[in-house]
Amino acid sequence: MNRTINNGWIQVTNRCNLNCKYCYMNANKDLSSMTFGQFKHVIDCLIEFGIKNIMLSGGEPCLHPDIIPMIQYIAAKGLKIGLVTNGTIINKELVECIFANNVIVQISIDAMDSDNYILSRGIDRLNQVVENIKLLNKNDIIVTMSITLNNATISEVKKVVDFALSNQIHTLHYGFLVPSDRCKENNMTMDQLFDALICLYEVQINKYLHIQIDFVENYVRAIVNKNKNPYYCNSMSCNNMEIQPNGDIYQCGALETIMQKTLEKPINIFNQDNVQIMNRIKSEWKTIGVYDIPDCKDCNVKYVCKGGCRAIVYQTFGNLYGTQPLCNELQKFISVIIKDYESGKLNSYIKYLGIVDNPLNDNSGYMKYF
Ligand SMILES: C[S@@+](CC[C@H](N)C(=O)[O-])C[C@H]1O[C@@H](n2cnc3c(N)ncnc32)[C@H](O)[C@@H]1O
Repeated sequence: MNRTINNGWIQVTNRCNLNCKYCYMNANKDLSSMTFGQFKHVIDCLIEFGIKNIMLSGGEPCLHPDIIPMIQYIAAKGLKIGLVTNGTIINKELVECIFANNVIVQISIDAMDSDNYILSRGIDRLNQVVENIKLLNKNDIIVTMSITLNNATISEVKKVVDFALSNQIHTLHYGFLVPSDRCKENNMTMDQLFDALICLYEVQINKYLHIQIDFVENYVRAIVNKNKNPYYCNSMSCNNMEIQPNGDIYQCGALETIMQKTLEKPINIFNQDNVQIMNRIKSEWKTIGVYDIPDCKDCNVKYVCKGGCRAIVYQTFGNLYGTQPLCNELQKFISVIIKDYESGKLNSYIKYLGIVDNPLNDNSGYMKYF
């Protein structure tokens, strides 16, 4: 397996000013931050590994006192930058820096109703987030949104989309609930989930000139291209490296928090030289494709759903090679898309995506959704 690592996620701090009930980063954490000196070392190493995109995250990255010099340092090296933030702490200097360095800002917002926002994020900061989105808009900064679907936010799907549409937010990234640590209690029913997926699918195929919804686009591209890419995510195809504030490297945040016991000793970017790191990644990192999952072998949508998030599966069943908990709903959902594709209902949307002229290699590491 050829490991081309394109994306570097850097958790610059574990601190966060929210108290999200569903956050997979929230439990078992010390509150350490990476120093600016360590950060520069990390960026220099990632460049040597060939990384093209850097996502700054946490904890809450905007809490880091050196977030501005960090952005400037990456930009000076010519890399693309994404900032994954809860959007509550964005001041004028940061806005100027974001604009000057073409940073894409992904704001996690989850719900438009204060009570549901609090249920998901722990603290009422919704007004601040909305104000900051308007501030970013006013300064011509590209804002995308990240929404975690859980029992507090599932009823908000339509409101969140309407908010995006009326605030020049064109790209939506959806996370289905990762049942880790504090979010084991998940009262979202599978019927609710299916209805939400269909609602978002209809939005995507009807409003494609205004909005891009990650999982719908990914499924449609996989159906149309009939590609046999077996990996659900960039991490499993070894396109991602996620660096914790203490220098530990993982394939993704969920793998770090949920599967931390799967490697005996995490690889640390401060303690080992780059050759050693690459050798360990080559020999130890798991690449689980859909062909490795026994229950997926005979499934007719296996190259569309790609088996789902292995971290969720591991957390739910204690087995990396199990079937994902949402399997039936997703199979039903994908069948709807396939039927629409075959009937020609998706023709305009597909033309808009430019799939025929310009096939997307998913997992190619290009940064549209993160
Ligand atoms: C861990 S946060 C870190 C950055 C920043 N504090 C923020 O809120 O965006 C990044 C994203 O992960 C999402 N997330 C956290 N726990 C999750 C879970 N259990 N399932 C799905 N998404 C989750 C959050 O909602 C957020 O959009």
